[in-house]
Amino acid sequence: MNKWGKLSLGLLLAAGLLSGCGQNKAANNNASSGDATATDAPVAEAKTLTMGTSADFPPYEFHKVVDGKDTIVGFDIDIAKAIAADMGAELVIKDLPFESLLNELSSGRVDMVISGLSPTEERREKVDLSEIYYKATQAVVVREADKDKFATMDALKGTKIGVQSGSIQEDIAKGIEGAQLTSLGKISEIVLQLQSNRVDAAIIEGPVAKSFVKNVKGLVITDAAPEVEDDGYVVGIKKGNSELLEQVNTTLARLASEGKIDEYVTAASELADKE
Ligand code: ARG
Repeated sequence: MNKWGKLSLGLLLAAGLLSGCGQNKAANNNASSGDATATDAPVAEAKTLTMGTSADFPPYEFHKVVDGKDTIVGFDIDIAKAIAADMGAELVIKDLPFESLLNELSSGRVDMVISGLSPTEERREKVDLSEIYYKATQAVVVREADKDKFATMDALKGTKIGVQSGSIQEDIAKGIEGAQLTSLGKISEIVLQLQSNRVDAAIIEGPVAKSFVKNVKGLVITDAAPEVEDDGYVVGIKKGNSELLEQVNTTLARLASEGKIDEYVTAASELADKE
């Protein structure tokens, strides 16, 4: 921890910290010059950056067989790789239940959480959150025959709704009068509940909902539009780890200014839709 902290600080200084305007490229390629500042560090000790994520969320993070091997891919993963590369660290990915992620962070078992995480006040009290790196939208998924029946949020009153445990969608559903919630660990389990008539609707992040309805027969997105304040995604970091927080924000600013995030989203969406 200390070591990459020092390294990242060195990199940040080299990168001109406040520039945040895409001029960091040269500095980022200079991981070794960052190393030179950490004179007291033992040589050639591998630095790792451990990321916690719930890889059930295409196109953000999901499992895919790549070259015959089960691999976690997605645009959150590409962002994590860029952060690790800027730090000169090796990325380690831990696939964990979404609802456990922030505890894993607080206890130091992971260094950062990138998992389509929405910023909420409650989360902000527990952990530090980066700047928003991508805008979010919410969607209501139902069986094809129910598309018109559930065209508004009002129509969801008193229905059975599937959501991911610990997610903001769970909070949205709790706010719907008379709704009976089924909170489950994985999005794919919610989709199964919907297919087998055990819930009437599911509230899922827009791009994830799109990916599932494209790949699962008989499900559609309705016109109902759940509203969320400050909708977007952030990286979670252990409270007080300001060096990593600054590194993450610097990399996010670089990726945004270079148009990389949109590029990652497009590539990940194509990957998610490809069998
Ligand atoms: N954006 C929502 C939240 O922060 C859901 C995120 C779920 N992420 C996942 N990888 N399953 O609560």
